[in-house]
Order: sequence, then structure tokens, then C-alpha cells
Amino acid sequence: MIQLNNLYKSFGVQRVLSGLNLNVAKGETFSILGKSGTGKSVTLKCIVGLMVPDAGDISIDSMDVDVNDRKTLKEIRRMIGFLFQGGALYDSMTIRENLVFNLTRHHKVKHSEASEKAAHYLSLVGLADFIDKMPSELSGGMRKRAALARALVIEPQILLYDEPTTGLDPITSAEIGELIREMHGRFKVTGIVVTHDILCAGIVSDRAGVLKDGLLKYTGALDELVQIEDEEIKGFFRKPL
Ligand SMILES: Nc1ncnc2c1ncn2[C@@H]1O[C@H](COP(=O)(O)OP(=O)(O)OP(=O)(O)O)[C@@H](O)[C@H]1O
Ligand SMILES: [Mg+2]
Repeated sequence: MIQLNNLYKSFGVQRVLSGLNLNVAKGETFSILGKSGTGKSVTLKCIVGLMVPDAGDISIDSMDVDVNDRKTLKEIRRMIGFLFQGGALYDSMTIRENLVFNLTRHHKVKHSEASEKAAHYLSLVGLADFIDKMPSELSGGMRKRAALARALVIEPQILLYDEPTTGLDPITSAEIGELIREMHGRFKVTGIVVTHDILCAGIVSDRAGVLKDGLLKYTGALDELVQIEDEEIKGFFRKPL
């Protein structure tokens, strides 16, 4: 469903990706682990065409991601929900309006229908009583759930997450992880989750890989990754949960 073949990306003399490969099957959720600055966000941005790799190919559901082919890119983007690092809700809109805006502006859904859908998805993530609140009136965990609802409301086939649990306590992180897992199961979503949070990765992913030296090294089930004799990788698993 998502195929990254031999991706290269440099910024000036700094090489970030150097031959990265990844295949994520339909319905599968894959976690990308890796230290800060290793290129995790860059990888996600390449997938949605916000950044262009220097070399290599990306295809989504057999369609090539090519920023010069705006029509196909638009079609691909319509299939993808993206949770940016930081959540990024619009602060001047209620959370319902945040969802409605996503539907009416980018997906041409009529306002009345969008408003109903927004309420439905906010209730799925446990925010039914808060739909008319401003983001500033919500806790960090609630904002993450609202951002998840905003990504889900377009009913995407693919969801990409950049650090969905950063800044949350372990219990709330686990709750968000469970919610992502449940939503993926319910809607048969294919997902890539970028995270430092091993607890979250364990809950949401079928497979994971460690991004290091521009490559996804050691892909496999998380319990296989735990066994790997590499100091940096062991460092992830040693982190207090
Ligand atoms: N637009 C850009 N221009 C120049 N350099 C960039 C740009 N975007 C990213 N980089 C560089 O590429 C490297 C990888 O960045 P990226 O944001 O992918 O890291 P990351 O793995 O997501 O880290 P973190 O865990 O801190 O979010 C960094 O060294 C960063 O400085
Ligand atoms: Mg990042």
C-alpha cells in the first residue's frame, strides 16, 4: 500500500536519507523509531509530497507520488490523514469547527453533513462534551484526541502520525495508543507512526523499524527489535516508560 524505494534526501552537505526502503501492507501499522534529527519527519513529508526526495520513488496504492503530477498528488492526499508533530489545531476555531473546516475546505463536504460527521468523530475519541470548546480550553491529551478525530473525519485509508504522544504522561500516551489501534482496526487504516515512545509503538504497531544513518535498520516485530545487540537501539528500550 505504501512503498518507499531507495529514498535519498540531503540538505546541503547533510545527508538525511540514504537509500531508505519501506513497504507497509494494506491494513498494517508500522512504527518508525529513531533519535531526534534522523529524518523521521522528513520521511513522512516526502510521502505526502510536502518535500521532494533527491532520488528514489514513493508509491501509494500503486500511484506514484510526483509533485509535478498535481492531479494524482491531490488524489493521493485525499486518501491520507496526517497528524503533524505538535497536533496543530487551529487555535481560533472550536474543535468541531476544526473538523468541519477540514471536510468542507479540503474534501468538499456540505457544511451540515460536515458538522454531523465532526460531532460523530469527536464522540468516538471521547470528546462529545467538548465539541464547542476552543483548543486552548482542552488538556494536552484532549488536544491530541481532537487532532486524531480531525485526521479520521475524512475517513482516510492511510494515517501518518508524527509523534502522536509527545508531551503526554505514560497513562495518557497509552490511551492515545489504544485509541489509534482501535480506530485502525475499525476503519481498516494503513498507518505509519513516527515516535520516540516505545510504549505507544508497542500498542499501535504490527511492525517497527529504527531509522539510523539514513536507513530503516532492523525492521520487525517490536519483541524482535528488543533482542538486537546495538547500543543505540537498546537505549530506546531502556528508557523509563
Ligand atoms: N527544510 C529543511 N531544511 C534544512 N534542513 C532540514 C529541513 N528539514 C529537516 N532538516 C534537517 O534534516 C534532519 C532530519 O530532520 P527531521 O525533522 O526529519 O528529524 P526527526 O527525525 O523528525 O527528529 P525529531 O525526532 O526531533 O522530530 C535534521 O537535521 C534537520 O535539521
Ligand atoms: Mg520529527
